[in-house]
Amino acid sequence: MRYTTKTRVLKIDSRQPDAAIIREAAAVVRAGGLVAFPTETVYGLGANALDANAISRIFSAKQRPAADPVIAHIVDRAQVDRLAINIPPSAYPLADTFWPGPLTLVLRRAPNVPANIAAGLDTIAVRMPAHPVARALIQAAGVPIAAPSANTFSRPSATAARHVLEDLDGHVDVVLDGGTTTIGLESTVLDLTGETPLILRPGGITLEALRRLLPDARLSPRFVDTDTAAASPGQMLKHYAPRARVIVYTGDINAVLATMRQTAQQRIDSGERVGVLIADEDAALFNSRVIVQKLGSRHDLTAIGQNLFAALRHLDAQGADVILTRDFGRDGLGAAVWDRLVRAAEGNIVQVDW
Ligand code: TXA
Ligand code: MG
Repeated sequence: MRYTTKTRVLKIDSRQPDAAIIREAAAVVRAGGLVAFPTETVYGLGANALDANAISRIFSAKQRPAADPVIAHIVDRAQVDRLAINIPPSAYPLADTFWPGPLTLVLRRAPNVPANIAAGLDTIAVRMPAHPVARALIQAAGVPIAAPSANTFSRPSATAARHVLEDLDGHVDVVLDGGTTTIGLESTVLDLTGETPLILRPGGITLEALRRLLPDARLSPRFVDTDTAAASPGQMLKHYAPRARVIVYTGDINAVLATMRQTAQQRIDSGERVGVLIADEDAALFNSRVIVQKLGSRHDLTAIGQNLFAALRHLDAQGADVILTRDFGRDGLGAAVWDRLVRAAEGNIVQVDW
């Protein structure tokens, strides 16, 4: 049965979180409840990471398969030692450079940490978020906080409290509403338990930045289906998916835009509601019958990343039957944007050239 409760929404200042509100939310975490909170990447659905029952509520509320492991969020380095053992030397300079921030390290799990947080694996994913509300909450709770993204399974991640409520109202005890998240894409997940450091999910910290410290870091060949090693790739591709069908176009930019424009027109003519997810500069190509969501300038991957999930949700809310979008480049944050688009499209990618 799905975890059900009365949801309370508490507004909180994202720069200087009110101590009384934090205390109230921290008490809920300590009592085994669920608290959704903002991080710099996306909203998390939090529970006491040392309490197996609380963790199982996360899975139940999100309707998330038990085979999909969850990240433990910490506020200081001492907490890593409560969660992980045999920490490799490479972890320390990474933590010095990128924590607090959008980097998650996969380490060997300490024996006292509940197995269900890691879906039974002998590893544990650990991240120290930078967001003041997340930090204050973990500090006040006095325990690491297990938190997947605060969306229901396979929906786009939540970058605002209203998205959390769309998916989880009645299934989370408290939502701390600290406004819109700044990065908008989830953390980079870096596995340090193997021979070479492997990026299981591209995210807020780029491959290029990681390679400055870890020259042999590489993207997992299966980075588009990282959510569990056990599940079939096809199944795991379905992620960040809006209700509408998504098609991603890649290739020569002019050919891509011409094809998107033509496809939009054809589909409208055949009676479909068509949404497009595009850069600001591309917007003028589409007429008023197309539902246009601008993500930001072509060259501003930060803005595109920030706006992506909200734009997918918005097009869904507008009743789009199909969403046409394009490749925005794969360097830097582009790798994370591309990964989320491919997943939203469930692999539905069209290569176009003149
Ligand atoms: O930015 C983020 O990472 C957000 C915020 C809330 O911190 N959290 C988030 O969690 O995106 P979630 O559960 O939606 O995604 C966690 C990712 C999944 O791809 C999961 O498979 C991977 O991390 N992961 C977690 N624990 C793992 C482990 N022990 N081994 C390998 N991958 C793991
Ligand atoms: Mg997620």
